Parts: sequence; structure tokens; C-alpha cells
Amino acid sequence: MSATPIKCAILFSGNGSNMQNIIESLHHKICLDSSGEHCFIDITITLCNNPNAFGIKRLEALNIPCIVLNHKDFSTRQAFDNALIKALEPYNLSYIFLAGFMRILSPSAISAFRIINIHPSFLPDFKGAHAIKDCFNSDVNYGGVSVHWVSEELDSGEVIMQEKVLKAPNESLEDFEAKIHALEYTLYPKAILKALGLARVESTSLESALESTLESSANTNSTPLDSSNTRGKA
Ligand code: GRF
Repeated sequence: MSATPIKCAILFSGNGSNMQNIIESLHHKICLDSSGEHCFIDITITLCNNPNAFGIKRLEALNIPCIVLNHKDFSTRQAFDNALIKALEPYNLSYIFLAGFMRILSPSAISAFRIINIHPSFLPDFKGAHAIKDCFNSDVNYGGVSVHWVSEELDSGEVIMQEKVLKAPNESLEDFEAKIHALEYTLYPKAILKALGLARVESTSLESALESTLESSANTNSTPLDSSNTRGKA
């Protein structure tokens, strides 16, 4: 099975449900790129700034490595970001997906990688850390989810995909929140495929062939993921 890996990382801070969903939806799933070639997303590494995050436990079950870099160990935002860049650089990543990563990245981190984020509102409405609650408490009759490229201004980069969800009469904040999260789980994987110019190939036989190839190359200690990745940021 010959398919080109696209090496990606996920950064998160807490629960990690979007991270788990991206891994289950996209990791090692066969896709076609814009030239019609087989390829696959490889979630090569994850990084978490919170040593107590539940997402770290999810990753143990998913068998995906996680770098824990506690931002409290650094005296400035820039020092933390320098350590983050240094920790991720060796992986030759093509893309980084933020999934509930509650840190504002500095310009140096943003320019070092191509970064995609998910935000739980119909941007530009309700930017910031309390988007769901702010939207719920407002007069607007809909909420939403946006997936966007990360730029230097918070929650303001180019939107890749976004969708609205209507508020229901008398619904609780918890119900509204659950609807937003359900939309996140369908939208984020679709938006990632769109941003990367990929189309899923639904084939369990190709996926098992890929897993066997990856397994045998791991056993013979060769690293096909390092040799053929041409999508790294220039
Ligand atoms: C999600 O609502 C996401 O949109 C926002 O943070 C939340 C993370 O939730 N950026 P989880 O950690 O993925 O469960």
C-alpha cells in the first residue's frame, strides 16, 4: 500500500473530545489529494499545556503520544511558545489543529506552522473564551461553529467552514452546549479535509493494507513517515 503521510499535530488543554474525534475520524484514513494520489493524515504528536487535562487519558487509550508542556513552568508567554516550537519542530509537521487549546499563540508560533482552530460560535460573533455562554445569554436566535485558519488576531483568521444551529425555545445552557458540541464533531473533520484539499476514500481494505504497511515498517525500524512528507511548511 503506497500512500503519502501528512504529518499533523493536535494541541489541546482540557477535555479533549474534539481531539479524540479528529483522531477517530481522520487518523490513518485513506484520502485522495488534489492530484488523485493516495495519502493519509498521521496525527504524529499531540501537545497539552495542562498536566491534569482529561485529554491526556484519552490519548493513552488511543495510543498517540502527547507532549505535556505546562505553561506555568514558563515565566513569559514567549518563553512557553519558544519551548512549544522547539518541541514540535522535529516532527516536520504540515499542519497543527487546535482543539480546545486555551492559550493565545504568539506571532512566532503562528508563523512557524500552518494552524487551524475550531471556535464554538458563528464567527465573527462571540469571539473569546466564553463564546457558548455569551451567545446563549444574547438575543441572537442561533449559535454556531466555525473552523478557521489561525492568524495573529484572536478568532479572526480566514474561515474554512462554519455552520449555524438554531436556539430552541426554553432550552437550557447544557442542551444548547450539547448541540454546539455535536456540530463541532461533524464540522471539524470536514473542514480539515477541505482545508487540506483531501477527499476521504471509504475503503476498509485499503485502510487495513495501510495499517499492515505501517506495522511492518515499524517492525523493520524504517520510518516511511519521515521520507515522503512533502507538505511541510516552506
Ligand atoms: C470546544 O467547544 C472548542 O470549540 C473550543 O473549546 C472546546 C473544547 O472542547 N475551542 P473539547 O476539549 O474538545 O472537549
